[in-house]
Amino acid sequence: MAQEGYCVFGTSRKEHQASQGVEMLRLDVTSDSSVQSCIKQLLTQTNRIDLLINNAGQIHASMIEETSLEQAKEIFETNFWGIVRLTNAVLPVMRQQRSGHIINISSVAGLIGAPGQGFYSASKFALEGYSEALSVELDPFNINVSLIEPGYFKTNFNQSMLQAAFAYADYDTARDVIGSSVN
Ligand SMILES: NC(=O)c1ccc[n+]([C@@H]2O[C@H](COP(=O)([O-])OP(=O)(O)OC[C@H]3O[C@@H](n4cnc5c(N)ncnc54)[C@H](OP(=O)(O)O)[C@@H]3O)[C@@H](O)[C@H]2O)c1
Repeated sequence: MAQEGYCVFGTSRKEHQASQGVEMLRLDVTSDSSVQSCIKQLLTQTNRIDLLINNAGQIHASMIEETSLEQAKEIFETNFWGIVRLTNAVLPVMRQQRSGHIINISSVAGLIGAPGQGFYSASKFALEGYSEALSVELDPFNINVSLIEPGYFKTNFNQSMLQAAFAYADYDTARDVIGSSVN
């Protein structure tokens, strides 16, 4: 997109080498103040926001019973509330423009409950309902909302994956079967 002449910003919680033509901004989607300061910084360099891609996601691999409530909330904080925060921050700009596009990265696990990833699935299901409703609400303002629902593809998610808080032997067989299908 940068090569096509678009002004492109990437985000990360960490220091990152940017691709050519892409400016990196610090962002933690779980923090209200981080989201506000990221969008504020972006708007000092451009006075419009045409496209928001909500890609940040927290993947986990654990049975529902083996996931602590804190972990379940952490998954939702990134995968659902993070997107709500970013969307709320850009909507005033897009509404004023009377144009914009929001692309939310969901998952096939947002369409089918994925065993071994129950709370990840639940967070993506929440994202699906939110995005469908938002799409209708924003239609009068010429703002589009899209959902992308990929299957498995190779990324760094194995390194950043949240691990089970508890381990119960009753789930050993199921865990092995699921583990071998993901790796
Ligand atoms: N890989 C798959 O098979 C697959 C399948 C379906 C859907 N997806 C979805 O695709 C998206 C990308 O996942 P991935 O596979 O590329 O996983 P990944 O390699 O683990 O990357 C996760 C990305 O999310 C960012 N992120 C995580 N927590 C964040 C936070 N609190 N604030 C800001 N950024 C945060 C990370 O940025 P930093 O660490 O640099 O901050 C990183 O860029 C996710 O929404 C995931 O659910 C992936």
